[in-house]
Amino acid sequence: MLVHLPGVLTAEETAALRERLEAADAPWVDGRVTAGHQGAAVKHNEQLAEDSALARELGDAVLARLERHPRFISAALPDRVYPPMFNRYRGGGEFGSHVDNAVRFIPGTGRKLRTDVSATLFLAEPDRYDGGELLVEDTYGVQTLKLAAGDMVLYPSTSLHRVTPVTRGTRLACFLWVQSMVRDDAQRSLLFDMDNALQRLAATGADETARAHLLGGYHNLIRMWAAVG
Ligand code: NI
Repeated sequence: MLVHLPGVLTAEETAALRERLEAADAPWVDGRVTAGHQGAAVKHNEQLAEDSALARELGDAVLARLERHPRFISAALPDRVYPPMFNRYRGGGEFGSHVDNAVRFIPGTGRKLRTDVSATLFLAEPDRYDGGELLVEDTYGVQTLKLAAGDMVLYPSTSLHRVTPVTRGTRLACFLWVQSMVRDDAQRSLLFDMDNALQRLAATGADETARAHLLGGYHNLIRMWAAVG
């Protein structure tokens, strides 16, 4: 399931993030530092040093938004979220076709996270760079994503994906992984559809008893499928 979350950050918030990332002292490093052996061969971009104060501060700001974003919660059903990272593509930078590593250590915690959902938050306006599309292979073929600054896309971490070369300008983005309480994408997708339908039933004043039963079914499915912690 591919989910587009428009306006995770406002235009002002996105501009403020960009300004910090474009500052001369922002600690950009070779993106291959966090790539697995296979990924390193196809990864040609830069990342904000993961252990830098700036990465932590900006990452926390993004997390604070996501924690209060009902559609993110509903689609990802997060158990743990990897601290958001930031990347930069320019001068032909690209990331060839790959599947994200299945398990990552969360820095400084000694804890592991299984990557179920991958997320990209676009930070540069699409007309500021050429190329830089995120291509995700899903059930219905290859999806091409180049979203407005402040918008996020969620896709299953099991998907093959790539970022096409940036031939003009700079593509800035934030990315993160979620270990979901519900590991299976098909189950998450069903729950997301159900939650959307429930919200619509509530908004249109549908029969309350029927809604209560459906809502019970939704929570009981989560109880059946969720693994927590
Ligand atoms: Ni990836």
